[in-house]
Amino acid sequence: MSETFANVKRFIEEIAAASPKSKDELEQFRIRFLGTKNVIKPLFGEIKNVPNEQKKEYGQLVNEAKEAAERKFAELQEALEAADSGDNDTDALDFTRPGEPLELGSRHPIATTLNRIVSIFQRMGFTVAEGPDIEDDWHNFTAMNTPEDHPARDMQDTFYLQGSTEMLLRTHTSPVQARVMMAQQPPIRIIAPGRVYRNETISARSHAQFHQVEGLYVDEGVSFADMKQTLMYFAQEMFGTPKIRLRPSFFPFTEPSAEMDVWIGMDNEKNHRLSKGTGWLEILGCGMVDPQVLENCGIDPTKYSGFAFGMGIERQAMRLYDIHDIRLFFENDVRFLRQFRAVV
Ligand code: PHE
Repeated sequence: MSETFANVKRFIEEIAAASPKSKDELEQFRIRFLGTKNVIKPLFGEIKNVPNEQKKEYGQLVNEAKEAAERKFAELQEALEAADSGDNDTDALDFTRPGEPLELGSRHPIATTLNRIVSIFQRMGFTVAEGPDIEDDWHNFTAMNTPEDHPARDMQDTFYLQGSTEMLLRTHTSPVQARVMMAQQPPIRIIAPGRVYRNETISARSHAQFHQVEGLYVDEGVSFADMKQTLMYFAQEMFGTPKIRLRPSFFPFTEPSAEMDVWIGMDNEKNHRLSKGTGWLEILGCGMVDPQVLENCGIDPTKYSGFAFGMGIERQAMRLYDIHDIRLFFENDVRFLRQFRAVV
């Protein structure tokens, strides 16, 4: 008797384990378990040999075998068809094919230029300070000794926030000077990199947004000579030459004031164009911090003096990487950006 049961169980196991690889093998399976002369049919006949109290259990088991065969067949047929249509065709995968290359990003030329500038000043003991892009009128202008009627405040140059005469997009990084001096007493030795905004016509040489690095050094006995030496060292490290030129200039927040040019020569067309045929590249404004500015920001001008500078980054990046149009920095065209992959 137990052998009759074992027979059925063996078929059930066989059905579960079946894995035909082709249509032919599947057909073999169908004939064996579901065909007109299938192996399960005779098992139903065996029921007459099963003791009465086990007939029910036996009948259920045989039915189970039959249903398992039907289910398995449907399943296998579907799998084979899917493989045929290529959905699941593991044979067609070529694992030796090289993968798709991963696109690596690259640093933006403004960022690499900025990093170089920051690292040069860090080596001289400057630390990095930051201020907000959206500034108030006081930090951007008033504290920096720029009177109400100064042309720099003109609506045509400054982007004010809509409906505001108080909040604006900073026109330079100089307001960070005020923020730092308000927060700490000398010695102060900071640089402040960041984005600035001016309402200017966008062209190959000027843009409505660009980047600056502000510098501020305040302590007892800081002189113009200290400033010149600091800037010469910077020129040497950044451009490979200490040859600089300080031209007298004016800023409301420095006295005396100067603009600094670096000698880039005119030995090729690019340098000729970038320096407008002079060989000199103007890169920054600077000067001794006006005593009025120190006082505005809570620092005693009878005890302390300092120098400050503000340099544009775009023009230096243009010189560094032979870029002829400032707009390229802001368009994020990957054909442009990809060229800086090797630069770190
Ligand atoms: N803020 C000035 C500018 O944007 C540059 C500058 C900074 C000049 C600090 C002197 C001192 O043009």
